[in-house]
Amino acid sequence: KILILDFGSQYTQLIARRVREIGVYSEVRAFDITEAEIREYNPNGIILAGGPESVTELDSPRAPQCVFEMGLPVLGICYGMQTMAEQLGGAVEGSKKREFGYAQVRIDAETALFKDIKDHVDHVTDKALLDVWMSHGDKVAQVPDTFIVTASTPSCPIAAMAWEEKRFYGVQFHPEVTHTLQGQRILEHFVLGICQAERLWTPAQIIEDQIARVRDQVGDRHVLLGLSGGVDSSVVAALLHKAIGDQLTCVFVDNGLLRKDEGEQVMETFARHMGVKVIRVDAEELFLSKLEGVNDPEAKRKIIGNTFIDVFDDEASKIEGVEFLAQGTIYPDVIESAASKTGKAHVIKSHHNVGGLPETMKLKLVEPLRELFKDEVRRLGLELGLPYDMVYRHPFPGPGLGVRILGEVKKEYADILREADAIFIEELHNADWYHKTSQAFAVFLPVKSVGVVGDGRRYEWVIALRAVETIDFMTARWAHLPYELLEKVSNRIINELEGVSRVTYDVSSKPPATIEWE
Ligand code: XMP
Repeated sequence: KILILDFGSQYTQLIARRVREIGVYSEVRAFDITEAEIREYNPNGIILAGGPESVTELDSPRAPQCVFEMGLPVLGICYGMQTMAEQLGGAVEGSKKREFGYAQVRIDAETALFKDIKDHVDHVTDKALLDVWMSHGDKVAQVPDTFIVTASTPSCPIAAMAWEEKRFYGVQFHPEVTHTLQGQRILEHFVLGICQAERLWTPAQIIEDQIARVRDQVGDRHVLLGLSGGVDSSVVAALLHKAIGDQLTCVFVDNGLLRKDEGEQVMETFARHMGVKVIRVDAEELFLSKLEGVNDPEAKRKIIGNTFIDVFDDEASKIEGVEFLAQGTIYPDVIESAASKTGKAHVIKSHHNVGGLPETMKLKLVEPLRELFKDEVRRLGLELGLPYDMVYRHPFPGPGLGVRILGEVKKEYADILREADAIFIEELHNADWYHKTSQAFAVFLPVKSVGVVGDGRRYEWVIALRAVETIDFMTARWAHLPYELLEKVSNRIINELEGVSRVTYDVSSKPPATIEWE
């Protein structure tokens, strides 16, 4: 396994994902980890990740010196390379000017890291060229005496360095992003070749491990799970069902703000198909009555969250002998809350998932996805036999349609929105665009706009369509859907739905516009 030290870069998690894609377990830890903790984790190698700070400043973070004294291979990426250079006797030069984007590096020395890797050949020197992604201001100005320069660009003469006897490597560019075409191979060279880590991290293996762990933790006692129909809780349900069968009870709360047929699909997949015990609670009226007259988005979120807890709590108290609560917490949630506690990582997204479980319930937590990234959770889901469409469904916010109906939520609005959304999603599937977008949905605008029907003018509601492409949901670009597709969706919504006279398409990027409208 590989240890990744975090200096606060947005890309750190991506490095961990890439390493796991190679089939090797990796964990992200804060840069101020102790030597004892490293020994306990017992990695095959260490990656020092990027970070927003400047090595040239006195109080900027450093890797623990022991990292370079344990005899383990070390790969420094971006800030990680700079701090490695500085800590081992080289020099880093500060710069206000950032280099951001594509660059072509020339491989000056083919170390084990760059072995047989090239995108092009430099015709003058006959050396290999790589297309890479750069994102840095500072750069290494002088490598430590024991290192050699292994790659360069005109604007960054020390783009990579190595001390091969010690198996220390540094790259200024980012091998973890897909824009660096050979990035994954470079990481493979490090992880498999240089660190000699074994590929033991596969979905089947993870499932087997987790089943054993859950059985060990739970014994013959009972577990409760709030099943939302989202990917994470669905995978937890399938996994726990496999591990402990009837000792699992799921509660599915229909809050009246779900997508079309969502409740039916959940019951079909889990209760009927897999034989999971699912209690479905129809709480539409309760939720809608609590939301009556409430306009403020944050107030709506709170009400929906609190009502969920009340309903869930109520249902749970009817079931006897439950001692555990299962949750679909995944690794990014764990890293994010750890980072916000140390205050080091520049936290951009505050996460707003249904966090609060009723404290009074005094249940112990079962969190079998705590170590997994989203794409791993998905692969697990497929391996466990969940339908592809469920596993690869777009994310849906906890407050559901409640934050897609602007202002006050009413049943009339929710019913129209559900239909409009279903038409949009159906047409995205038909046109093969669903999986090319990261999230797509309709929004209900409670304004009346004029339409002409026959001879009369009718004032009816407006539906906005939103579709975005994003990797991390922190930044997003609006999806460039074909006009014909938008036209078809618009025609269908206006013709098929009573009360809608106009459809618009949202062409705002995030930032500054968020993905949701509220
Ligand atoms: P924004 O709107 O902040 O959304 O750009 C980023 C991602 O988070 C989802 N989202 C939520 N998820 N509860 C949730 O569980 C919420 O209150 C909430 N608000 C936004 C959003 O759908 C997108 O995927």
